[in-house]
Amino acid sequence: MFQDKVAIVTGASSGIGKATALALARAGAHVALAARRESLLQDVAREIVALGREALVVPTDVTDREQVDRLVRATLERWGRVDILIANAGAYVRRPIRELRPEDLEYSLAVNFYGSVYPVLALLPHMLERKTGHIVLVTSMDAKKGIPPDAPYVAAKFALAGFGDVLRQELHGTGVRVTIVFPGRVDTPLIQNLTVPWISAKIPPTAVAKAILKGIRKGAPEIIVPWQARLLLYAHVLSPRLADWAVRFFHLEGWEAT
Ligand SMILES: NC(=O)c1ccc[n+]([C@@H]2O[C@H](COP(=O)([O-])OP(=O)(O)OC[C@H]3O[C@@H](n4cnc5c(N)ncnc54)[C@H](OP(=O)(O)O)[C@@H]3O)[C@@H](O)[C@H]2O)c1
Repeated sequence: MFQDKVAIVTGASSGIGKATALALARAGAHVALAARRESLLQDVAREIVALGREALVVPTDVTDREQVDRLVRATLERWGRVDILIANAGAYVRRPIRELRPEDLEYSLAVNFYGSVYPVLALLPHMLERKTGHIVLVTSMDAKKGIPPDAPYVAAKFALAGFGDVLRQELHGTGVRVTIVFPGRVDTPLIQNLTVPWISAKIPPTAVAKAILKGIRKGAPEIIVPWQARLLLYAHVLSPRLADWAVRFFHLEGWEAT
C-alpha cells in the first residue's frame, strides 16, 4: 500500500523520524525529509536513493510557519501530491515547575505542538481536495500520564494529542485518516542523557517506525508502543493516585546524567 506513495516526514534527521522515513522508503514510498540539520538529511536521502526510491531534502524549522509552507510547496512541486504526513519533529523540555521560565513552555509548545499543527494545516486543503491522505502525529505516552519534571513537554504533547483526537473525528468520512502515536521511552538522542528504570526500558526507534507503518495500514486511531506502556495508563484510569504512586515507586522519571 506504500508503493509510489509520497510522504513528508518532519524530524527526519534522527531517531524515530529517520527510522520511519527509511521504513516508508523500504515499503516503496518517496519521502520529503524535513529537519534543521541539512547534512544529516542528506545522509538519509542517500540511503533512500540506495533503496531505489526518491528523496527530497527540505531544511525546515517546524516552528516557522513560512518554512513549513515552503516544505509543503516544495513537495507538491516535486511529486504533485502528498499521501502521508508524519508530524514527528520534537524536543524534550524538562524542568521542575517551581524553576520554570515562560520561555521553556513557549519553546516546547513551538516545537512539539505548533511544529506538528502547522504542517497539518498546510496540507489539509490538499488532502481534503483529493479525498485521501493519512496524517500521523507523534506525541508521547507523556500525553496519557504526565511524569515530573516534564511539565513543558507533557503540556505540549497533551495539547497535540487533544488536537489530533478532534482532527480525527472532524475528518471522519472525508477519506483523510489520522493516527496518533504514543511511544514510551525510545533509544534516540532525545533522551540519551536519561537512564530509565527496567520497567520503561528504551525500545529502538525502528520498533516505533514499524508500529507507525502498521498503524497506517490498519487505519489505527491510536498507537501505543511498547504495549507495556499501557499499564501506567490503565492504572491512571483506575486511580490517578495509584498511577502517581507507580511513577514515584518505579522512578519513571529516570536519572539524568550530570
Ligand atoms: N525518544 C523518546 O523516548 C520519545 C518518546 C516519546 C515520544 N517521542 C517523540 O518522538 C519524536 C521524535 O523524537 P526522537 O526520539 O526520534 O528524537 P531525536 O532523535 O532527537 O529526533 C528529534 C527530531 O526532531 C527534529 N527537530 C527538533 N526541533 C526541530 C525544529 N525546530 N524544526 C525541525 N525539526 C526539529 C530534529 O532535527 P534537527 O535537530 O535536525 O532539526 C530531529 O530530527 C518527538 O516528537 C519526540 O517527542 C520520543
